[in-house]
Amino acid sequence: MDLKALMEEAAKAREKAYVPYSRFAVGAAVLGGSGKVYPGCNVENASYGLSICAERTAVAKAVSEGEREIKAVAVVADVPGFCSPCGACRQVLAEFGPRMPVIMGNTRGEYKVRDLNELLPEAFNLEDVN
Ligand code: THU
Repeated sequence: MDLKALMEEAAKAREKAYVPYSRFAVGAAVLGGSGKVYPGCNVENASYGLSICAERTAVAKAVSEGEREIKAVAVVADVPGFCSPCGACRQVLAEFGPRMPVIMGNTRGEYKVRDLNELLPEAFNLEDVN
């Protein structure tokens, strides 16, 4: 699967966003080690802090279906530049692919790519715990 196709999956997932509070819809898609794609959207809550980002929704879907590796992630939102994953999502993504390509996109179909280790250098990881 190419990066643009993963971006398109993220854009589609964005349409499902539950965002009555921020009105800021985000879509994400992760490519699992098996080759399967898992889309996710942000899901907000009346107790604001319990809202979950699109990226973490997608990761939870992948891992709960048995994936243990994530090969790439795409994120899409209606932003002037490119939608960058928040720090919490970077940490959660790093668990399953510390060097995965992160495709940061917008609703105009533009995107840029950075490796996760550039966005979260020297991440805390499994080796630190063990
Ligand atoms: N959000 C995401 O889903 N992913 C990001 O990368 C940035 C922020 C969500 C969280 C919240 O629902 C809304 O966007 C506004 O912050």
